[in-house]
Amino acid sequence: MSDDKKIILSGIQPSGKLTLGSYLGAIKNWAELADEYDCYYMLADLHAITARQDPAELRRTTLEQIAQYVACGLDPEKNTIFIQSHVPAHAELGWVLSCYTMFGELSRMTQFKDKSAKNAENINAGLFTYPALMAADILIYQADLVPVGDDQKQHVEICRDIAQRFNGIYGETFKIPEPFIPKVGARVMSLQEPENKMSKSDKTAGGCIYLLDKPEDILRAFKRAVTDSDTVVRYDPANKPGVSNLMQIYAVCAGKTFAEIENAFAGKGYGDFKTAVGEAVVETLRPIREKALELLGDKAYLEGIYKAGAERAARTANRTLSKVYKKVGFVAK
Ligand code: TYM
Repeated sequence: MSDDKKIILSGIQPSGKLTLGSYLGAIKNWAELADEYDCYYMLADLHAITARQDPAELRRTTLEQIAQYVACGLDPEKNTIFIQSHVPAHAELGWVLSCYTMFGELSRMTQFKDKSAKNAENINAGLFTYPALMAADILIYQADLVPVGDDQKQHVEICRDIAQRFNGIYGETFKIPEPFIPKVGARVMSLQEPENKMSKSDKTAGGCIYLLDKPEDILRAFKRAVTDSDTVVRYDPANKPGVSNLMQIYAVCAGKTFAEIENAFAGKGYGDFKTAVGEAVVETLRPIREKALELLGDKAYLEGIYKAGAERAARTANRTLSKVYKKVGFVAK
């Protein structure tokens, strides 16, 4: 990992099983960046506890997520893979940055509004200040690029604002990062309610596809996917959200353009189309599922990855934290 490479940081909350949405919106693009960039990918467990988690389940999904990162093509030799809580500097910088983040700007975060509306009994302070911690995650590595799905764009924007504010007060401290959002697949929708984002917390049966789902379950979910009363396969998200969502998924998994898909299914109706999308997803996920299940049998290997990752990550993170502590006026240890 050389110093002149540009830096990438991204993360996913291990708050449940990884979904096709997080794969197409984020992880799929991560693996392709390893040679060109110095990449840090974390499991955002500190973020995960902004919603109530079952402790045993959180531990299990965190390990499963590491196995899936590797199974999705993230080479642990080329990428720094680590668990957020193993690098305490994130929480420390998160606190500092929360003092440079305004109540008003946090109040405008759509994800805070959505999550507090869905979880009225647990609108905790962590859920509210979450973007300051996410800004710390990014800025502590001096990241140039943050590959995320569309729903995280606002959080990367507030991170830029916080960094600029801090730099404005104390002089050049943080690099200003850019979001890196895929053209297709940045917002995968539920198969049952295509007006809503595909989400790991979705309770609707068949709405969400998980990376470790069995092929027969995936095929069934796509056959039952909600479309519309029309019969034409055409990309038109406003009027045909279900079909357009399936087209996005198919375009990425089968490597086709929207025009190619429209031509291939002209006059064929939705049955054939939904089967083809399901099959393309099964084939995309099959090697990932097989590899992840194999890796999950080797806990020592997974432990080696996250321990080495945390050590590497901490070296970089602590450098930035020391610089920040000095700038704000803390006495050096
Ligand atoms: P999280 O865990 O909700 O989602 C992880 C990543 O997957 C993307 N994603 C989607 N993309 C397309 N369609 C979907 N339906 C879909 N669902 C999820 C998300 O955009 C995201 O890229 N706050 C972050 C985790 C985080 C982070 C960070 C990310 C913590 N610190 C620093 C980047 C940088 C989150 O909750 O993502």
